[in-house]
Amino acid sequence: MALRDILKEILAAAEADLKSATFKDLEQLKIKYLGRKSALSLALRQIKDLPDDERGPLGRLGNEIKQKISAMLEQFAAGQDHIVDDLDFTIPGIEPLMGHLHPITQTIGDLIDFFAGLGFSVAEGPEVETEEYNFDLLNIPPDHPARDMWDTFWVSRGKDSAHSTLLRTHTSPVQLRYMRESKPPIRIIAPGRTFRYEAEDATHSSVFYQLEGLMVDKGITLGHLKAVIDAMVKHILGDDVKTRLRPSYFPFTEPSFEVDVWFEGRWLELMGCGMVNPKVLENGGIDSSVYTGFAFGMGIERIIMAKYKITDIRNFYGTNFDFLKQF
Ligand code: PHE
Repeated sequence: MALRDILKEILAAAEADLKSATFKDLEQLKIKYLGRKSALSLALRQIKDLPDDERGPLGRLGNEIKQKISAMLEQFAAGQDHIVDDLDFTIPGIEPLMGHLHPITQTIGDLIDFFAGLGFSVAEGPEVETEEYNFDLLNIPPDHPARDMWDTFWVSRGKDSAHSTLLRTHTSPVQLRYMRESKPPIRIIAPGRTFRYEAEDATHSSVFYQLEGLMVDKGITLGHLKAVIDAMVKHILGDDVKTRLRPSYFPFTEPSFEVDVWFEGRWLELMGCGMVNPKVLENGGIDSSVYTGFAFGMGIERIIMAKYKITDIRNFYGTNFDFLKQF
């Protein structure tokens, strides 16, 4: 049979097939008429071997037919009633997995609310901090052994500490950033991510969250610090937890303490705190002969772990839904 007749027959067959087709047949028809092994494709491939005077007209005819069949199939697919025929709207759907805020985010939100009630607002600082703010202004000079308390991820070395950057090892630099741009009375909390070069295990993570607190005014004493910390811990862990201050050392507070909580039958170390070192107040542009203040820095994961008896900190940073769904 001549190629021209073959092409015409293919078109006629496609028209006939489509008349009796249902939506389900669509994919099969596409393959049958437009697929690589379809009669149409075979015929089109033969055209290029024809003598010059036949190739042009037959090529045109072949392409016309191909376009016509494509258009027919498209039109057919667009016939919505066929789709509706095949859908049962009464079948129950799959319930979507609904997300919610991460436990760390929930806890930060809860603490922001709690501290708002005590007149504290929220302050922020950069996660990539300068050496000056992370260390120097907090009374930790380059040669001071206290630098060894923090294993640091350095980012860049500049000509001096104001131009060298690192991933902040704690939220304490926010104290200085805030003091330098405001005047007492100061009441802020600074929740955020902090970074230390740690060997990671069940209780150590290189990335973790802290909540910094800073209060500066005339006549602020250790009594204020105790009261605020006690109220915060009770808010989270319940009214019957006891807190104690244990003497410690931080270069930026004097005196300095660790806060332990008596929880589930043992003392648990929860955070560092103290009265703001007068040098730090001065670095923040505050007259230390007039003002005093307290500061604390709490590990956020730690308090959640205590509350819910979580034994592995790595749960917070993974996608274990069995863990996350419980919050
Ligand atoms: N920045 C300290 C730390 O990360 C905690 C701290 C904050 C201690 C404020 C005293 C005052 O270990």
